[in-house]
Amino acid sequence: MTITRSNPLHHPRYPRSNGYDPQWVIENQMGPNPLWLIEALTDVVEIRPGMRVLDLGCGTALTSIFLAKEFGAQVWATDLWIEASANLERIRAADLEDFVVPIHAEAHVLPFAGGCFDAIVSVDAYHYFGTDDLYLGYMTHFLKEGAQLAMVAPGLASEIGSKIPEELIPFWAWDFCSFHSPAWWRDHWEKTGKVHVDVADSIEDGWKDWLGFSEIKLPLATDRGKKAATDEVAMLRIDKGKHFGFSRVVATKS
Ligand SMILES: C[S@@+](CC[C@H](N)C(=O)[O-])C[C@H]1O[C@@H](n2cnc3c(N)ncnc32)[C@H](O)[C@@H]1O
Repeated sequence: MTITRSNPLHHPRYPRSNGYDPQWVIENQMGPNPLWLIEALTDVVEIRPGMRVLDLGCGTALTSIFLAKEFGAQVWATDLWIEASANLERIRAADLEDFVVPIHAEAHVLPFAGGCFDAIVSVDAYHYFGTDDLYLGYMTHFLKEGAQLAMVAPGLASEIGSKIPEELIPFWAWDFCSFHSPAWWRDHWEKTGKVHVDVADSIEDGWKDWLGFSEIKLPLATDRGKKAATDEVAMLRIDKGKHFGFSRVVATKS
């Protein structure tokens, strides 16, 4: 796959992401553009040089590389589906071996000491495991006092319960039930008493970015992935941000 246009991923809202090779991003993406999402997250959570950051569900570690390169953070790039050795190759190629440690782990069995992170971030992954009422308590165990947990995930503008909007029925997948609104996430986290929620909102025009990136990827979809990719584009075009977007949530350990 070769991208020929100068930078099809150039985005005025995400100046840091514009500095990355679009071919590298497209080849390693596992969903909506992870660099735009982590940049949107770092707009509302402070990452400083030397901070110890857990990037949970990092996939191919693009977001971990971003955090190390842009902010000088020490990142534990942790994921289940992607082998640590595959991520190590990408980390080495980015010359960030001293900053990013690849870890293969399941989110409920993390091999870290309690209180060891200054921040935990999660991009397009937390909804796979974090909707469990008890998960936040487990997660905050790994944070220092006063440290932040920050996540961005596909979400809804508001909760729909079991009433799938008529126009989305042809595209609806059962696991969209893990997509929740910012208000849902705020309540889900605050009711534990373990954190104070600092931010719970939807990323501005997130659906447009999701659609734009999906349109760019569409011609590159494999035969097997073509239908899902086509449906995703059609669904986002019909919805026009009425329901779908990205929920962004940041909280401080109490
Ligand atoms: C859609 S991908 C996103 C990857 C990456 N954050 C990105 O934005 O490109 C979701 C990621 O969540 C991770 N994940 C899902 N369930 C997990 C679990 N139980 N423990 C650890 N990681 C998990 C998967 O391994 C996968 O890489």
